Amino acid sequence: SSFLSPSGCLYQCTFYCSFRCISYVTPRRFDHRPAADSYCEALYPFCPTGDQDGRIPYMRDSDVISVYRLQTPVWEFKYGDLLGKFHIMHDAIGFSSSETGANYTMEWYELFQLGNCTFPHLRPEMYAPFWCNQGAACFFEGIDDLHWSQNGTLEKIGEITGNQFNDMAQWVQDDNETGIYYETWTVRSDPGPNATVWFESYDCSQFVHRTYRKLAELGAKLSSRTQTNYTKIYLYSGEPTYLGNDSAIFGQPALKNLAVDIRNFYHTFRPHQSFTDFAISLLEAYKKVVLDKSFYLYYNFEYWHLPMKPPYVQITYEEVPLP
Ligand SMILES: *[C@@H]1O[C@H](CO)[C@@H](O)[C@H](O)[C@H]1NC(C)=O
Ligand SMILES: *[C@@H]1O[C@H](CO)[C@@H](O)[C@H](O)[C@H]1NC(C)=O
Ligand SMILES: *[C@@H]1O[C@H](CO)[C@@H](O)[C@H](O)[C@H]1NC(C)=O
Ligand SMILES: *[C@@H]1O[C@H](CO)[C@@H](O)[C@H](O)[C@H]1NC(C)=O
Ligand SMILES: *[C@@H]1O[C@H](CO)[C@@H](O)[C@H](O)[C@H]1NC(C)=O
Ligand SMILES: *[C@@H]1O[C@H](CO)[C@@H](O)[C@H](O)[C@H]1NC(C)=O
Ligand SMILES: *[C@@H]1O[C@H](CO)[C@@H](O)[C@H](O)[C@H]1NC(C)=O
Repeated sequence: SSFLSPSGCLYQCTFYCSFRCISYVTPRRFDHRPAADSYCEALYPFCPTGDQDGRIPYMRDSDVISVYRLQTPVWEFKYGDLLGKFHIMHDAIGFSSSETGANYTMEWYELFQLGNCTFPHLRPEMYAPFWCNQGAACFFEGIDDLHWSQNGTLEKIGEITGNQFNDMAQWVQDDNETGIYYETWTVRSDPGPNATVWFESYDCSQFVHRTYRKLAELGAKLSSRTQTNYTKIYLYSGEPTYLGNDSAIFGQPALKNLAVDIRNFYHTFRPHQSFTDFAISLLEAYKKVVLDKSFYLYYNFEYWHLPMKPPYVQITYEEVPLP
């Protein structure tokens, strides 16, 4: 009872079977993860204490593994818990083995920090904007109780068997190989409950939701005593227009105006700006997004134009119940 329209919208039969466009473009799955370009440099190394090959330890089936919901304000090492006050949170999952007493943290995040996943680099020697936007799963031994519990959440939400854990571990490895690029934005038609989601984000909380759904599918019962809220970063727009990929836009003289427009758009959001440049950029961004009602979204390695609508951009901290 669902079909994909020529414009790329996934229609689903809802109440009384009035077909409603529920989601537009979903994150693409890739065959494998390519090596990151050497131009991309991590400010902080990715997954420093994880296994080099991303191996996850095997658990005996007789083991009972506790599952924890972990949440903490983003970038707290830099801005204290300021971002926590705006509810910009990072999510992860914890596990502890009752047989060995060992515990583990599993999270999904940017290889080259959030800014690099949200906006590209404009390199003089390259015409197309250059993205350092890979994200990946990191599994490592230990749960830093203080880090998660002090300004965030550390809550046990269930127990699973060793076999359920091992099955989940296999799924994580596959998910990590095929879902490669971080996507900050969720794009919706309006803030109402029946809005169309044009593009879904692909970030740390989406990984956590996918993992919970997988655990539920494997038979785990998860429950929380408190509301399980997550950060969403929304853009609001009318129906997006597909523009094309790098070679289509930046490789053809016929589309030069569009190419220049996209470069100008992202020039506003370039990383490493001085304070004055940043203040000017903020005004330019306001003009482009709010006054010109225009945003160029890069999704699945392709560009889309978004005809922006009020309230344009919003950060929410809203409930997503456990499965
Ligand atoms: C983003 O990528 C650039 C270029 O590789 C790198 O210098 C920088 O450390 C990365 N991180 C941030 C936060 O800009
Ligand atoms: C996921 O992929 C990244 C990048 O290749 C790798 O460093 C990491 O170990 C992998 N994680 C898991 C759990 O497989
Ligand atoms: C994880 O293990 C450490 C070290 O044994 C311990 O201090 C901590 O309380 C454990 N945390 C959880 C949530 O099990
Ligand atoms: C929690 O926030 C306070 C500031 O409100 C900060 O001093 C403290 O270091 C934070 N705790 C952790 C574990 O990050
Ligand atoms: C959302 O859709 C439902 C079912 O189609 C309908 O009953 C409800 O009134 C709609 N809500 C809004 C705010 O449009
Ligand atoms: C870019 O899009 C064109 C069609 O518009 C397609 O033929 C080409 O294979 C695409 N390139 C990549 C790298 O996906
Ligand atoms: C959690 O989400 C619910 C519903 O989405 C909202 O009403 C509530 O205010 C949120 N809690 C916080 C602390 O923001």
